[in-house]
Amino acid sequence: MPQQEKPLAGKDLAMNSIIENAWLYCEAGKIKAFGKMEMLAETGYQNHNGEIIDAIGRVVLPSFVDSHTHLVFAKSREEEFVHRIKGMSYEEISNLGGGILNSARRLQEANEDELFESAHTRLMQCIRWGTGAIEIKSGYGLTVSDELKMLRVVRRLKEVSPIAIKATFLGAHAFPMEYKENHDDYLKLIIDEMLPKVAVDRLADYVDVFCDRGFFSPEETEMILKAAAKYGLKPKIHANELGLTGGVQVGVKCNAISVDHLEHTSDAEIESLKNSNTIPTLLPSTAFFLGIPYPDARSMIAANLPVCLASDYNPGSSPSGRMAFVWSLACLRMKMLPIEAFHALTINGAFALELQNELGSISEGKLANLIITKPIPSLDYIPYHFSEDVFEKIIMDGKPFNR
Ligand code: NIG
Ligand code: FE
Repeated sequence: MPQQEKPLAGKDLAMNSIIENAWLYCEAGKIKAFGKMEMLAETGYQNHNGEIIDAIGRVVLPSFVDSHTHLVFAKSREEEFVHRIKGMSYEEISNLGGGILNSARRLQEANEDELFESAHTRLMQCIRWGTGAIEIKSGYGLTVSDELKMLRVVRRLKEVSPIAIKATFLGAHAFPMEYKENHDDYLKLIIDEMLPKVAVDRLADYVDVFCDRGFFSPEETEMILKAAAKYGLKPKIHANELGLTGGVQVGVKCNAISVDHLEHTSDAEIESLKNSNTIPTLLPSTAFFLGIPYPDARSMIAANLPVCLASDYNPGSSPSGRMAFVWSLACLRMKMLPIEAFHALTINGAFALELQNELGSISEGKLANLIITKPIPSLDYIPYHFSEDVFEKIIMDGKPFNR
């Protein structure tokens, strides 16, 4: 694919970017050249003495870019899963001190090494599932020291990770119990204490706020995003998961790179996105897991928006980072074509992390982070076979990844 200036939007999401019967040449960890097999002889690239991987009958695709995760957490939350099966909603569980506050209590008790080890194991699993760059948020600390602890864990992951990681500061994930009736003091804690410390140690690339019913209002969100902008932190926010709450509009107003979730969108949200550079990022495995409405991807594509897809990997609403499953859900439940969802999971994910020059497509000069499937009939077969792992080889920086 040629280098893109902008994420793929509207009809362009369905553009045919597949080359049948192709070759690909990697050098020094990067994609150096590629093309149709019948043209290879003319290029001279067949006269190399490197390793050859035979991909006959297989599909070679760029690795996924997962632009929204909460990969660092202390414990799973299957007890809430059972409460929901018995009839409680995600919001009811949150209001009783479960949900995010439950994960926060557990994270506050955990030490940095334990958090690092468990997050590292999850990260390696995500890479084996084909993710070639990832975003990781804080937001289960909710105290100054625990938010910093989480972000230090993300920094350690960055140091050892074979893939690019972007860190997002999400101190505004929920109001801790003691601030439920005193929002102003928690906002002060975020703005006057957390943000300066996060910035001084360069612990985050982005800032996030859970702007939604029962969480942060659009006004509170704007205060935090404005304060973060002074430290150069651009917003990527949680918006419109639980209702039509003004999250999308405040994200657009503050020049957010992306507004994520959008299970609830009306014409007003779509209108405000149309006049912006903000990417709507949809997280269908959350709608699947919580049994809430799926985002209306078709209306967004019809409005020429650059829809992006991500996993939202977290213990409460999407305990999986498997992007191939996100792909299947996008097709089955949001009526995205396999090719549209593929672009939303790769090149548009790269734009949502400002990694579009390095990742997200098979383009000359980009990192050779690739997936090679087993022999399969077509690209469409990948999301069609929603439970089969059809990925045979994961290539990172031009080399097989074997962990
Ligand atoms: O993206 N919605 C807010 N945050 C997460 C859920 C976090 C949790 O339940 O632990 C999400 O779904
Ligand atoms: Fe999330």
